[in-house]
Amino acid sequence: MKHLISVQELSREDTVGILDTAIELNRVTDGGTKMLPTLRGRTVVNLFYEDSTRTRLSFERAAKRLSADVVTFSAKGSSVSKGESLKDTALTLNAMGADMIVVRHPAPGAAHRLAHAGWLESSVLNAGDGKHEHPTQALGDAFTLRAHLRPEATDFAGLTIGIVGDVLHSRVARSNIFLLGILGAKVVVIGPPTLLPVGIENWPCEVSYSLDAHLPELDAIMMLRVQQERMNGTFFPSELEYSRTFGLNRKRAKKLPEHAIVMHPGPMNRGVEITAEVADSARSVITEQVANGLIVRMACMYLLIGGDVSVA
Ligand code: CP
Repeated sequence: MKHLISVQELSREDTVGILDTAIELNRVTDGGTKMLPTLRGRTVVNLFYEDSTRTRLSFERAAKRLSADVVTFSAKGSSVSKGESLKDTALTLNAMGADMIVVRHPAPGAAHRLAHAGWLESSVLNAGDGKHEHPTQALGDAFTLRAHLRPEATDFAGLTIGIVGDVLHSRVARSNIFLLGILGAKVVVIGPPTLLPVGIENWPCEVSYSLDAHLPELDAIMMLRVQQERMNGTFFPSELEYSRTFGLNRKRAKKLPEHAIVMHPGPMNRGVEITAEVADSARSVITEQVANGLIVRMACMYLLIGGDVSVA
C-alpha cells in the first residue's frame, strides 16, 4: 500500500494489520512517549488547507516520534492565498523532496487527486477531505473501541455502535461506518433526516431517527459535531430543539448499558450534541481518542514509508 486515502480501500487484513502495528508501537514507545529511529532520513510534509488541532498536531508528533523530518505547510500564509493551484503546490513540494504528504483539504477527492494525478512521487495520506473521509480518525476510533470492548479479539462481531448527529457533513462518520463494517460491528446511524446523506440506505449501517429507542443496545455511542460552517441553509429549527432530540445528556447516558463508552472525534460543541457533564464523565473516552490517534498515525506512517524496517 503506497497511499491511504479511504478506508473503503482497506481489506479486513489491512485494517487488522494497522491496528496490530499500532498496538505494538504503543508497547515499544510507552504510549508514544519514546522515540524510534524508524523514519530517520525521511521527510513528511503536513499540507493543511483547512483548520485542525488534533489531526495536525498528532501527525506532526507521530512523524517526530518516528524520527522523520517534518515540514508543516498551512495554506494560510502560503502562496495558496495568492492563487497557487493544488497542482503547482504539489509540484513545488515534489521538487523539494518529500516521502509523504499528509493532506487536509476542504474538497472531497483532493487527497485522491494528489495521490493519483502523477504530480508526486511521495505517499499521500488523507487527513480529511471535505465531507468525504478521515481514515486515520476512524482507525484511531477502532483502536479505542478494541482497547475497551474487544481487547482479545481482532473483529467487532457482536458489537453495536451508534453514530449520532450531523452525518451529512461528517467525514468521520463515513470513515467509521465503513471501517466498523469491515471489522464486523453493527452500526446504527441516528439523526434528523435533513442531516443524513442521500443514499445512506446503501451504506453498511441501519438508519434511525430516534436516539432514545437505541440507547439500551449500544456498546459505544459516537456523537458528531454539528458542522455549522458547512451548512448553507437551515437543517433543524434551533440548537435547543436539536440538543433536546439528538443531544447526549445525563438522562440519556444513564440509559446506555453500564459498559458502554461515549466517543466524540472533536472538536465538540458542548451543550449542543453533548453536555459538558457527559463529555467529562467517567465513561467518556474522548481524550483517549486523541492519544490513540497519535499511535495509529505512527502505525500508518510506518507501514506506508517505513520500508522493511521492523517496529522494534
Ligand atoms: N477530529 C479531528 O479531525 O479534529 P481536528 O479538526 O482538530 O483535527
